[in-house]
Amino acid sequence: MLSIFHRMEPVLSHTLKRLLPVGWRVSRTVVSTNIVNENTAPRPFHEIPEERQILFGNTINAIWNYHRCHEYWLDLHRKHGPIFRQRIGKEHFVCVADPQLVAEVVRNEGKCPSRGVLPLWDEARKDMNELQTIANRQGEYWQCLRRKMNRTMLNSVMVNMSVPDVSKVSKDFIQYLLSKGAKDGYVHLNNEMSKWSLETFGQVFYGRRLGSFTDDRITESKQFIDAVMGFFETTEELMFVPPKVARIFWKKSWKRHLDTSATIFTLGRKYVKDYMKNRTEENKSEVLDDLIFNNEWESEKEMTTAIIELMGGGIDTISNSSLFAIYLLSTHPEIQDKLYDELKRILPEDGKIPYTFLSEAPYLKAVCKEAQRLYPVGTSYTRQMPVDISLNGHHIPKGTYVIVPLYALARMDSIYLDAERFAPERWIRNISGKMEHPPFVYFPFGVGPRMCIGRRFAELDVNILVALLYRNYKTELLQETPLQVKTRLILRASTAVKVRMIPRKSYQRM
Ligand code: HEM
Repeated sequence: MLSIFHRMEPVLSHTLKRLLPVGWRVSRTVVSTNIVNENTAPRPFHEIPEERQILFGNTINAIWNYHRCHEYWLDLHRKHGPIFRQRIGKEHFVCVADPQLVAEVVRNEGKCPSRGVLPLWDEARKDMNELQTIANRQGEYWQCLRRKMNRTMLNSVMVNMSVPDVSKVSKDFIQYLLSKGAKDGYVHLNNEMSKWSLETFGQVFYGRRLGSFTDDRITESKQFIDAVMGFFETTEELMFVPPKVARIFWKKSWKRHLDTSATIFTLGRKYVKDYMKNRTEENKSEVLDDLIFNNEWESEKEMTTAIIELMGGGIDTISNSSLFAIYLLSTHPEIQDKLYDELKRILPEDGKIPYTFLSEAPYLKAVCKEAQRLYPVGTSYTRQMPVDISLNGHHIPKGTYVIVPLYALARMDSIYLDAERFAPERWIRNISGKMEHPPFVYFPFGVGPRMCIGRRFAELDVNILVALLYRNYKTELLQETPLQVKTRLILRASTAVKVRMIPRKSYQRM
């Protein structure tokens, strides 16, 4: 057993060394302090409480617990308090779960924030002769691409324009689910949600359906969904292994990582090519047209890669986020009823969702936000600090990774009243206009210039699906056993969510 540890130590150290910027050093500038008196001299880094095992800091445990890191970090914060550090390989990661400390990290993330570089993705892209993923790009190389993509992706006009498309796909999806129900009417949602998110992407970005609701056999859409899932799974398996070592000792996973990436690129390229070939005034996508034609792309390859990244990044995240919302609503019939009252009031009888419906749907928005609070698909926010800072009076050198565990924050009674409870009303401002919880504790899409680029589309998609489903149906879970979740790069359900849809009396036309 011990020899395994010895073998892993250089492997892990190497990975983490590669994660660090060249010329890593401790600068003498300290930005500020918080919680602890600002005037006192910063305490040294090593005085931060540390989670460590006898061997290799906390390396083995951190890797061992990665699939449940959302809970693991919560356990560690309960043990050590709002700030602790852990050594993984040769490097220290600081974890903070306190609003003031989080604010300090966010304030100092810089103009081109970084979550670090994942050597696996870097190497795989080189092998495939593909461009670097936006998620792995750094500095101006990242900023330049991000600006181009932001123009369309964070443009509220573009987002609102997709309301009819998302509504249509969501209505079809609901009908599809009804047709999939077993004899007892229950449908296993986990396997179905990605079909909806892929079709939504197809309709909004390519102006057409991709076939997920019509054919269960091996279709391109199924291949794409499986490839995205495989890509996430192999990323998790290999993320702590240096690519050179993975190629030799983790051959199967490495090959699967390259194969799934290749499928994503091959199919993604085909979707974009088909769009360009068949695009007419009638079937064109305003969103994709804006992204393609209103930008100065360095090359066609850069443009296509950007679109493929959006597709890959958007499928599993939106689908799991919606699955969590449906699970929570299914276990809370009283919240479904309250939501139904609002939806019945604001949605017209003809079933058409108005462009501005969200501004009149505070309870719907609160339900979706609350579901994302309890089950954030991105379980943490990570930044590699570009400057020295001080956290809780401790000196944090430039280059250190700071992790804010979003899942853990959501479950702290010191931050949220009755934190574990699904309570959408906590997102409705009270009479004095205040929220009951502090700022800097809720950001399921990240925050700052590097926050999720698909955020606006994602929020709209989830809200529309939930609105159409609960305007017309109640949902019931087959078994009310608590949902189990796992981290597979993103947070996923690890137990089945089987629901039955029961039509409401005042059912709309679909
Ligand atoms: C409910 C759905 C989603 C959630 C909860 C989510 C969450 C996140 C989070 C937490 C980050 C890291 C942000 C940071 O470091 O500050 C991120 C990044 C990213 N997301 Fe999402 N996401 C979702 C949907 C989407 C969609 C629909 C797309 C594409 C259309 C997308 C594309 C991306 C990309 C490309 C990045 C990397 C951005 C960069 O590094 O500049 N995401 N997402």
